[in-house]
Amino acid sequence: MVNFFSVYMVSGSKISLLIGKNKKKGDYFVSLQANMKKAYIETYGCQMNVNDTEVIFSILRQAGYARTEVMEEADLVMANTCSIRDNAEQRIWGRLDVFNQLRKKRPGLMVGIVGCMAERLKDKLLDTGKVDLVAGPDAYRSLPRLLEAIGPDSPQIDVLLSRDETYADITPVRTDKNGISAFISIMRGCNNVCSYCVVPYTRGAERSRDAHSIVREACDVYRKGYKEVTLLGQNVDSYLWKSATETVNFARLLAMVAAVAPDLRVRFATSHPKDISDEVIETMAAHPNICHHIHLPVQSGSSRMLEKMRRKYDREWYLERVAKIRSVMPDCGLTTDVIAGFCSETEEDHAQTLSLMEEVGFDWAFMFAYSDRPGTLANRTMQDDVPADEKNRRLNEIIALQNRKSLERYRAMIGKEVEVLVEGPSKRDPSQLCGRASNNMMCVFPAEGRRAGSYATVTVVDSTSATLICK
Ligand code: SAH
Ligand code: SF4
Ligand code: F3S
Repeated sequence: MVNFFSVYMVSGSKISLLIGKNKKKGDYFVSLQANMKKAYIETYGCQMNVNDTEVIFSILRQAGYARTEVMEEADLVMANTCSIRDNAEQRIWGRLDVFNQLRKKRPGLMVGIVGCMAERLKDKLLDTGKVDLVAGPDAYRSLPRLLEAIGPDSPQIDVLLSRDETYADITPVRTDKNGISAFISIMRGCNNVCSYCVVPYTRGAERSRDAHSIVREACDVYRKGYKEVTLLGQNVDSYLWKSATETVNFARLLAMVAAVAPDLRVRFATSHPKDISDEVIETMAAHPNICHHIHLPVQSGSSRMLEKMRRKYDREWYLERVAKIRSVMPDCGLTTDVIAGFCSETEEDHAQTLSLMEEVGFDWAFMFAYSDRPGTLANRTMQDDVPADEKNRRLNEIIALQNRKSLERYRAMIGKEVEVLVEGPSKRDPSQLCGRASNNMMCVFPAEGRRAGSYATVTVVDSTSATLICK
């Protein structure tokens, strides 16, 4: 026996109260069935996109859409996209074909492209006839209106970039699996014009979010049980928020977020070598709950390349920043990004990158072959003249060197004690737990009654080039 007891309307969506009797056990049950539509989003690209997807789910919820992780049951299927390299976009074109096939089988299903590729390609996406909705990174508040307006032959688009949108008032619907580590965007856009980079065109001008709204969000996730926040921006060191009475820079913001709770870990990404200040480094050292890890993308070890890339620092400046970080925090984890085969890169420039990596000894690196992006300064004024096989050869040398360095850096941790925040079962061996050390190295250790979300002090007994094996 199952009865629908009553039906309410809440913000346009139907909610049914289901009352039934379990025939076998004889007891009654009551269940709230939200007849909301379902939205499925695949996220590509950087952590900012991951957090944007959480913002989008929050906005969609107000429009009567609940989140689903099953594409086949969704009424709305979207990809939150990345344009950083050509292969990132190629992947999305492939996914779009898959979505479109689903759409043919299920009339009424809506397909959307949001994020950086939506901003970059705009109408080109609509022209394929495979998309009902295109929305850029600053247009997510328009989603309910756009969805409402979609018809069989009327796809909708909003790609207006904004000078002030930060989504500060929107509480993201957290999509992380463990409920322990949350992303908080502290700024949007980017004001640098690195000559290879598409981000300023897809995300617009830099703007910093109200510092107090960031602290409130950190308090909110802490109350919900989270133990770690990662503050996100393309260049967090240039964070600057002003009100009538106060000015908050990144160092100050770090201190404010660190003060939320002593057992709430604070991480951040990405730092720009030209802007990371002594004040930021000293603030990290002064607060025990700010993790000792800096992601400091170098891009190249050659000053000539850095100049052409418009990074606004040279090799010496970068090495000096690394020396400063290590003098204040000898245990600080350092990771980086490297581009192989940028315009006019010679064998000598490449050798300089290898020697810088050798000298610094990064724990880990993201390494890429240069990909020419339409509309960027490099695309308009420079020749993408390093042949593909040469780019790949250099990239492989960079990867091989980094693998060796990673193993060295991880093995150097053997014998040390580290404090980890327990995240949950290890992927490889579910009988073990995993969690990160302050320096961001992944640790695996026996469960021994420890719970996810607690802190544990463990001793490193062995390592691979990406994991510390602990006791
Ligand atoms: N804001 C960050 C980087 C964001 S993009 C910073 O300034 O460091 C992430 C990384 O992608 C970059 O650090 C760079 O290494 C890489 N990247 C960006 N554009 C690229 C391109 N056109 N080709 C190859 N790699 C690129
Ligand atoms: Fe791109 Fe440079 Fe801005 Fe980073 S700082 S997002 S690499 S333009
Ligand atoms: Fe990609 Fe956009 Fe992030 S281009 S790396 S998703 S800012």
